[in-house]
Amino acid sequence: MAKVDIKLADIPEGKHVTFKWRGKPLFVRHRTAEEIEAEKSVNLAELRDPQHDDDRVQKPEWLVILGVCTHLGCVPIANAGDYGGYYCPCHGSHYDCSGRIRKGPAPLNLEVPFYEFADDETLVVG
Ligand code: FES
Repeated sequence: MAKVDIKLADIPEGKHVTFKWRGKPLFVRHRTAEEIEAEKSVNLAELRDPQHDDDRVQKPEWLVILGVCTHLGCVPIANAGDYGGYYCPCHGSHYDCSGRIRKGPAPLNLEVPFYEFADDETLVVG
């Protein structure tokens, strides 16, 4: 299947769920107001791969990224690491709640796949 439909009502605020998409882990996170606020206010000058949170999400409460570490491809752990987002245990890369690389060997932010909101309740990835 090239596309995956995700029912947003199944993911409560503050939760992260992993799906499978084209053989890769797909992370969907229902971000809290605090997480959104924190990611929007990050100083881009601090970032290795500078990208504003607004350029990584279509709706602030939904983060949609591939769970493939940009270092050597391990699967990061959700809600872990120094920035509360994702932590890759293979060599210690820390990502924030926007999936941006903040510390460790990974060179780039976690990839945002093509997706759209079919309606208010459904996310379609692919
Ligand atoms: Fe993630 Fe190396 S593969 S830190």
